[in-house]
This record gives sequence, C-alpha cells and structure tokens, in this order.
Amino acid sequence: MINIILLGPPGAGKGTQAQKLVDERNMVQLSTGDMLRAARTSGTEMGNMVAGVMDRGELVTDEIVIGLIREQLEAGGDHGGFIFDGFPRTLAQADALGALMAELGQKLDHVIELAVNDEVLVERILGRAADAVAAGGEARADDNEESLKVRLMAYYKQTSPLIGYYHAKGDLSSVDGLGTMDEVAAEIAGVLG
Ligand code: AP5
Repeated sequence: MINIILLGPPGAGKGTQAQKLVDERNMVQLSTGDMLRAARTSGTEMGNMVAGVMDRGELVTDEIVIGLIREQLEAGGDHGGFIFDGFPRTLAQADALGALMAELGQKLDHVIELAVNDEVLVERILGRAADAVAAGGEARADDNEESLKVRLMAYYKQTSPLIGYYHAKGDLSSVDGLGTMDEVAAEIAGVLG
C-alpha cells in the first residue's frame, strides 16, 4: 500500500493521472474538488455554502476540506493506497494531513509535483470547457478565463509553498507534466517503482 499526493496547478493533470493509478494499482482517489462538486450537486448545506467561492476560483476553508479528507481516511477499506488529488492546498492542510496520517498509523510515501507552464494550463482548461460545450454539455463553472486567473493566483500564493515544504521533508519528486498522458504516467510509475 502506498499513499501519494499529486500536487500541481489547475490543469496539470492531477485528476487524469489519479484515474490511471486507480485503474492500474487499485488505489483510491481522494479529490477534494470532486467531493465539493458532489456536495453541490446533492444540494447539501455545505455544498451551497462553497458554490460561490468555487465558481470564483478561490479556495474553500481549510476546515471544510480537512473534514472531508478525515471522513474518507477513517472509512478505511482494502485497496492499494490513497491518491490525494488537489489536497493539501495550503500549509495548514499539509500539517493537518500529516497529523491525520500519524493518528491513523499511516504514512505518505511520495509527493509528486506535476510541472506544467501557465500557457499550457490555460490551453487545457479552456479547451476542456470548449469540448464540454461542443458535446452539448456545460463547462465546469470555474473553467473560464476569469476564474482560471484566480485559481492560478491561489495556486502560486497558497499552494506552491508546499513544494518547499515537502522538499524539505525529502518526500518531493517533480515530474514533467507536459508530455502525453501516457508519458506522464510512465514518469510517475518510475517514481513509485
Ligand atoms: P479541483 O477540482 O481540484 O480543480 P483544479 O486543481 O483547479 O484543477 P483541475 O481538476 O481542473 O486540474 P487537474 O490538475 O486535475 O487536471 P485534469 O486531469 O482535470 O478544485 C476545484 C475547486 O475546488 C478549487 O478552485 C477550490 O475552490 C475547491 N477546492 C478543491 N480542493 C480544495 C482544497 N484542498 N482546499 C481548498 N479548496 C479546494 O486535466 C485538465 C485537462 O487537461 C483535461 O481536459 C485533461 O484531459 C487534460 N490533460 C490532462 N493531462 C494532459 C496531458 N498530459 N496532455 C494533454 N492534456 C492533458
């Protein structure tokens, strides 16, 4: 069992690579973004509360996302390990995750940073929005130029300090996220061994 964090800006490919790991290694994807979107869809009080914040591209409170992760970790289960996708995103979340894992007798094995430049991130996110609309669906409410600017700012200001945080702990590996999805997956497999 291995537990990993996929760290990177919006559009870096965290969700895409997490899905591959779920399929190939029987791991469990813990995406706080997906959990929050599910809460919105089912119209829970928390879901309604975070809707505006998410649509603007800002981060929801540490308390909410830490609570979501705690619930999932405590549920346990038989699997190949957890993939933290989009969590942690602040230093407070990283500290909380460390404490939670210790409390549950688990450890983090790898933190994998997916490195992608802004130009490609914007292309991917706006491309995903255009594809959704072309297929007759709706784009994600935060997949637009205005919200994406805020998401990127939140990443650089609040999340990117985690690169130094995990580097200092000796847990960080950086992977080039610009290759094809299979090339990136192969690099990640190289890190995981
Ligand atoms: P979240 O859902 O986590 O979104 P995000 O990190 O902003 O970005 P994405 O999920 O869009 O990107 P990704 O890196 O997963 O890329 P993907 O694989 O999808 O968060 C949404 C919001 O929820 C936040 O803004 C915040 O409000 C809130 N939130 C969530 N977690 C939180 C937390 N911990 N604390 C506080 N607030 C939180 O790929 C993107 C596109 O690129 C796809 O179309 C894909 O097909 C394509 N693509 C992927 N890889 C490649 C490749 N190698 N080559 C070409 N295309 C590729």
